[in-house]
Amino acid sequence: MFDFDAVIDRRGTGSEKWEKYAGRDVIPMWVADMDFRSPPAVIEALRQRTEHGVFGYTQAAPEVVDAVLEMLERDFGWTVDPAWLAWLPGLVSGLNVTCRAVGDDGDDVLTLVPVYPPFLSAPRNSRRGVVRVPLQERTNRWSIDFDRLEAAVTQRTRLFMLCNPHNPVGRVFDRAELEQLAEFSLRRGLLVCADEIHCGLVLDPDKRHIPLGTLGPEVAERTITLMAPSKTFNLAGLGCSFAVIPSESLRRRFLQAKAGIVPMLNPFGYLAAAAAYRGGEGWRRALIDYLRGNRDMLAEALKRMPGGLSMAAAEGTYLAWIDIRQTGLEEPIGFFEAAGVGLQDGRDFDGPGFVRLNFGCPRAVLKEALARMGRALEKRFKA
Ligand SMILES: Cc1ncc(COP(=O)(O)O)c(C=O)c1O
Repeated sequence: MFDFDAVIDRRGTGSEKWEKYAGRDVIPMWVADMDFRSPPAVIEALRQRTEHGVFGYTQAAPEVVDAVLEMLERDFGWTVDPAWLAWLPGLVSGLNVTCRAVGDDGDDVLTLVPVYPPFLSAPRNSRRGVVRVPLQERTNRWSIDFDRLEAAVTQRTRLFMLCNPHNPVGRVFDRAELEQLAEFSLRRGLLVCADEIHCGLVLDPDKRHIPLGTLGPEVAERTITLMAPSKTFNLAGLGCSFAVIPSESLRRRFLQAKAGIVPMLNPFGYLAAAAAYRGGEGWRRALIDYLRGNRDMLAEALKRMPGGLSMAAAEGTYLAWIDIRQTGLEEPIGFFEAAGVGLQDGRDFDGPGFVRLNFGCPRAVLKEALARMGRALEKRFKA
């Protein structure tokens, strides 16, 4: 019913992902958007809106707010008051606004690494320090080292930034882990920023996403949750995200920090969000099955390549975090680009020795990329 196998030419559309390698035979598997068309319901809503032809300043219409609230209730059992919502044209803005809204200059922000790079730059942009706590890895499964987390809290730590599902290690943190994190944050007097942008992309049928803010009223009062339809429904270019902030005082600080700096959203972003949440569920389920197939094929292919590559179990997201330490490659990105595959360097995430591969693409494209990687490694290790 939905054709995820269709190979759509994105060259010449200004795609950040594809333009990086314009004119070169390199399959781009770096920045996190997918090479699929968005759900038909989204495309149809945008078409109708385009035909209206007037594109002035736009607010979130009641049906957009309702679509978000319905999604939160339906998918996560989270009853959210419309007053708790704050709209953002991008989630990275939300990370930066949160850092400005919490604490003072010179305070510290705590986070787990490796992590999506703006987690490391947002505190610095706001004149805060970053305290990095490494996630621990055992046989390709990553988890939180709570002893190290406890030990890392400084006198000036005010904020903990959580990424769940986690980019890049692909963990969907379970209830026990989240409860322990919540207990830790409350006890140490920290506010939490929960980036849950990948919440619709849980791949394992036995796992589910639990928003941190649903763990109880005390936790909700101290949490800023950031979400968006952009990853799940492939709408990153339309710029529509939102924060859920139950605490009135925290919300006021957040709105103050973004006032006059963060622009309004555009009509297409709002409409696409509403159409995706209301009419995109069938597409999303089909997508999850397709991505799971890609993930499993990728994991198997890596095992067969020489060089000892292995991949963390991606419970969620379409991003694979691949351990290349055994290859001894010092410039892995250049090596794989020369082979015709554009990956992202783990060092960008504070994860040296790893690369990140975006498998949100048609299976034939993934297959070709894996064949190229395999051939390059064979040449290197079997020569
Ligand atoms: C964890 C995480 N947060 C935020 C973003 C980007 O959000 P936006 O494009 O809305 O700024 C990404 C994109 O990859 C991400 O993985």
